[in-house]
Amino acid sequence: MLPSLPSVVASIALLISTGYSLPRNVLSGSDGRIKLSAPSILSARDTACNNSPDLCSKSYSQITHMGAHDAAFLRDDSTDNSIAGNQYFNATQALDAGLRLLQAQVHNKNGVIELCHTTCDLLDAGPLEDWLAKIKAWMDANPNEVVTLVLVNGDNQDVAAFGSVFAGAGLDKYGYVPTGSSGWPTLQSMMSSNKRLVTFVASIEASAAHPYLLPEFAHVFETAYEVTSLAGFNCTLDRPQTAGTASAALQAGLLPLMNHFSYQALSSTIMFPNVGDIDTTNAPSTSTAGALGLHAQTCQSQWGAKPVFVLVDFWDHGPALETADKLNGVEGKTVGRSTPAGAGGSNKKSGATSTTHAGTVGVGKAALVAFFMAAVMLF
Ligand SMILES: *[C@@H]1O[C@H](CO)[C@@H](O)[C@H](O)[C@H]1NC(C)=O
Ligand SMILES: *[C@@H]1O[C@H](CO)[C@@H](O)[C@H](O)[C@H]1NC(C)=O
Repeated sequence: MLPSLPSVVASIALLISTGYSLPRNVLSGSDGRIKLSAPSILSARDTACNNSPDLCSKSYSQITHMGAHDAAFLRDDSTDNSIAGNQYFNATQALDAGLRLLQAQVHNKNGVIELCHTTCDLLDAGPLEDWLAKIKAWMDANPNEVVTLVLVNGDNQDVAAFGSVFAGAGLDKYGYVPTGSSGWPTLQSMMSSNKRLVTFVASIEASAAHPYLLPEFAHVFETAYEVTSLAGFNCTLDRPQTAGTASAALQAGLLPLMNHFSYQALSSTIMFPNVGDIDTTNAPSTSTAGALGLHAQTCQSQWGAKPVFVLVDFWDHGPALETADKLNGVEGKTVGRSTPAGAGGSNKKSGATSTTHAGTVGVGKAALVAFFMAAVMLF
C-alpha cells in the first residue's frame, strides 16, 4: 500500500527538522511549500531551469539570455543558402542547443503577419503563426524552460493582429505579464505559474486585451545593431533614444540587450550578415578585439550589470553560448542541451559558407533585385 500524503509530508518535515539534506527531487515551491514528485520520472532536466539547477532561484533579469538574431532567417538548403540568412540552424535547434531568446522581423503580406527579412521578396520564412506553433510545441515538451521572443514589427501592424496570431498558435497561454513594481520573478516562479514566455515587440502599443505582448522599448534598451567591423562594437545605448544613456536606462529599470553581430557592407546601404569573421565575432575570448566575450565583459564593467539579452548571428559558432554560461556562472555545468550535427562550421556547413560567399552561396536573382531596390539595412 502507498503511504498517505499526510504521512509522506510528515516524514519529510521530520527529515528537515532533523537536518537531513533533501534529495534533489524534492523541490521547494515558490510559495515555500514542499512539492513532491515521483523520483522514478525525474531526470536531471526536471530540477534544472534553463539548463542549470543554479538558475532556478535567479531572477529573470539577473541572468544572460543568449539569443539568435533573425532566428527565422536561415542560410541553409531551405533558402538555397541565401546570403541574407543569419543562422545555419532553425529556432527549434537553437532552443534544443540552449538558446533562450529568439529574435525575428515580421511584415504584412496580404494581411498575414509573415516572417520576412527586410522584404518578403528577399527572404520569406512563412507565416509567424506557423513558426510560433513550433515554439509552442517545444515549450510544451520542455516545461522548465523560460523563452523570450523579440519581434520587430516591420510594417507597424496592430497589437490585436499579433494577439490573434499568438492565440492561433496557442502560445498566449504561456505569456508572462509583468506585475509592475515588484520586478522580474525568478525562473522557478515562472515555471510554477507556467507563464514562461516573455514577448517583446518593437513597436506596438500596450493593450489590456493582450497584456503579455510587451512594447519592447518600455522594458528593454539596446546597443547599436548596424556594426560593420570588429572594432565597431560598444556598449552605448542606441535605442530607445528617449532613455538617454545606458546608465539612465538601467536606473529606469530597462533591461540591457547587447547586439553582437556584424554586417559586411557592399555599399553604404547594402549589407549582408558577415560570416567571414564569425569565429572571431562569436568567440568567448575576453582579449580579442570584436569577440563576444570581450564585448560582454566591457558592457558588464561599464554598466555595472551584465547584458540580460545578447543577440548573435550563426549562434553555433563560437560557440556563442559559452559566453552566456560564463556570465551566468554555469560554464561546464549545464544539462539537457543537444547541439545539431554540423554545428560550428565543421563538415557539412563549411564547404558552403566558410570562404567568400558570392560564388558559393546563392540568392535568387529576383530576390537580389528586390534587395537592391529596398536598399535598407537588414535587421
Ligand atoms: C527545425 O527543423 C526541424 C528538423 O527539420 C523541424 O522538425 C522543426 O520543426 C524546425 N523548426 C522550425 C522552427 O522551423
Ligand atoms: C557605438 O557603435 C556604433 C556602431 O558601430 C557607432 O555608430 C556609435 O558611434 C558608437 N558610439 C560610440 C560612443 O562610440
